Amino acid sequence: MSYQEAYNYATSNPKEFWKEQADQLPWFTKPNDIVDTSEHATGRWYSDGEMNTCYMALDHHVANGRADQVAIHYDSPVTNTKQSLTYAQLLEQVAKFAGALRAQGVEKGDRVVIYMPMVMEAAVAMLACSRLGAIHSVVFGGFAAAELAVRIDDAQPKAVVTASCGIEVAKVIAYKPLLDEALELAQHKVGSVILLQREQLVAELQPGRDLDWQAVYEAAVPTEAVPVKATDPLYVLYTSGTTGKPKGVMRDNGGHAVALNYTMNAIYGMDAGDVFWAASDVGWVVGHSYIVYGPLIAGCTSILYEGKPVMTPDAGAFWRVIEEYKVKAIFSAPTAFRAIKKEDPNGELLKNYDLSSLVTVFMAGERLDPPTYEWAIDTIGRPVVDHWWQTETGWSICANPQGLDNLPAKPGSSTVPIPGYDLHILADDGQPIGANEKGNIALKLPMPPGFMMGVWGDPQRLHDSYLADFPGYYTSGDGGYRDDDGYVYIMGRTDDVINIAGHRLSTGEMEEVVGGHPLVAECAVVGIQDELKGQMPLALVLLKAGADTTDAVLAKELASMLRATIGPIAVMKQAHIVQRLPKTRSGKILRKIIRNIANGEDYIVPSTIDDPASLDEIAALIAPK
Ligand code: COA
Ligand code: AMP
Repeated sequence: MSYQEAYNYATSNPKEFWKEQADQLPWFTKPNDIVDTSEHATGRWYSDGEMNTCYMALDHHVANGRADQVAIHYDSPVTNTKQSLTYAQLLEQVAKFAGALRAQGVEKGDRVVIYMPMVMEAAVAMLACSRLGAIHSVVFGGFAAAELAVRIDDAQPKAVVTASCGIEVAKVIAYKPLLDEALELAQHKVGSVILLQREQLVAELQPGRDLDWQAVYEAAVPTEAVPVKATDPLYVLYTSGTTGKPKGVMRDNGGHAVALNYTMNAIYGMDAGDVFWAASDVGWVVGHSYIVYGPLIAGCTSILYEGKPVMTPDAGAFWRVIEEYKVKAIFSAPTAFRAIKKEDPNGELLKNYDLSSLVTVFMAGERLDPPTYEWAIDTIGRPVVDHWWQTETGWSICANPQGLDNLPAKPGSSTVPIPGYDLHILADDGQPIGANEKGNIALKLPMPPGFMMGVWGDPQRLHDSYLADFPGYYTSGDGGYRDDDGYVYIMGRTDDVINIAGHRLSTGEMEEVVGGHPLVAECAVVGIQDELKGQMPLALVLLKAGADTTDAVLAKELASMLRATIGPIAVMKQAHIVQRLPKTRSGKILRKIIRNIANGEDYIVPSTIDDPASLDEIAALIAPK
């Protein structure tokens, strides 16, 4: 089926289209009720279907000829370790670890927080939760204790699964003290902590609460895959919104499995048996969808890589992995390729490797800027596909769908909406906008399978955060336009979400931290363009009366506060003391204009501005020279 045929089919007859996709999977009870919008405008998919995601990802393949195929290759240049588990071996480990969780009282519907580095056991723990019908909530290892505590309080887990340490290039990051601090900070009391000891750093266990992974694993009885309803939650993944409180994006089992299985072929062009590598982290949605669930449900071989694109040991790391495991498609963030380009601009290291298995390079997580796109095409010599998606959708909204058609690419565009998404560009008043004009990117309801079911613990927040701005539409929070051919260009967030090196963070949350500095009276944090990391935060600060400090001292102090509170990924280098912040007469800080000034972009001074001269002061400090 061509892209256009598939798109028209999914638009004109969504029930039939998504029923056919559901029929590809091994359900315990096949769904008849394909989509229901009576209670939820975004749609509830397959509500009378019964299944188990882990069963679809593992048991089904073991029973159908894939027992000896490698399910996951773990490759860790930072520990010099490699391990390949076949589908049968992975199933054995997952069934046993599910038994270990069950022995701790974890059952269907219970939450388990997973705070782990990129080790095979992270995937085992996720799949074990799904086997039990328990709900996992993976927290990215680069978050500090306070962030972990917020998530623990919100998810209220029965157990936490962790490791003694992570390894960042050559640095050993002790996880246990971070977890101990988080458990101390959290109100919620966790029943048990299961900790994987790594030889790089052995953690001390707290008797009565902490359990050794190996010990509980050995004592465990393997468990069956527990049937769940398609609409039961599989996981909660916290993501940054515009406020300080992260949103627990809650995803179902059935729609998620169907959508991922569809995308593995339609978008990524993968067939069962192919090797797919998402060079991301299990702490992000990309890792959930395309390191763990998508490739396994589709019967592919996945790679779990504990390393960086550079420094582990060099900028040839990606090419080494592609050659070694015969990777057919790689998926990573533009920032990773910019890091490689910086180290090895002429792609000299690439010449040492055989990349003949590689068909396509996929990028997402932030805007793929045309220079990086051109460099990647020229250097790697393969189609480079920019595709746009969000934690909320769980899979890409726009892409050049390699399994349907390889459409002519346009630099700067993430090509076209995928079947299932009805994309519109709307003005701030909700009116549709014509071709080539920038506006808010919105998706007409209902949403396709795999879209978030809601915000964990806060049923109203899905509506308030995403559906209230434009009735009948999901507001993506991204701005952009479509050209005359219908190609979509994503130009960046219209809200206070920032993307640093592919890591989604909230400037609102950063403002809370900056505002906590003893000398700061008021502040604004905005995301500005950065050549390597895509975006970086910049703080404008109004000092308390009588406070005496300098930009440089303040920047250093704020950077360490952000690191301690949010985590090392919240990198900030620039802070400026100002006499006033640009505001409207009603007192709203004009953050968008600050962003425009810092990025050297045009802007219109609103008539509601209180003090136009404040813009001159700021421009002198932050406008590109
Ligand atoms: N656990 C603990 N610390 C972490 C961490 C983790 N999981 N991930 C990052 N950090 C730390 C880093 O060690 C670094 O600490 P430092 O300041 O002490 O050196 C800090 O957080 C900033 O890390 P990062 O933003 O990753 O910058 P970097 O300079 O170390 O690396 C890149 C730059 C481009 C190589 C790296 O950001 C990268 O590979 N990005 C791709 C991200 C990605 O795949 N995103 C998923 C979307 S598809
Ligand atoms: P996350 O939820 O962490 O995946 O981050 C989602 C956000 O990252 C989106 O809302 C976009 O702002 C940005 N993003 C992801 N993919 C792309 C892309 N291909 N082009 C532009 N921005 C992107």
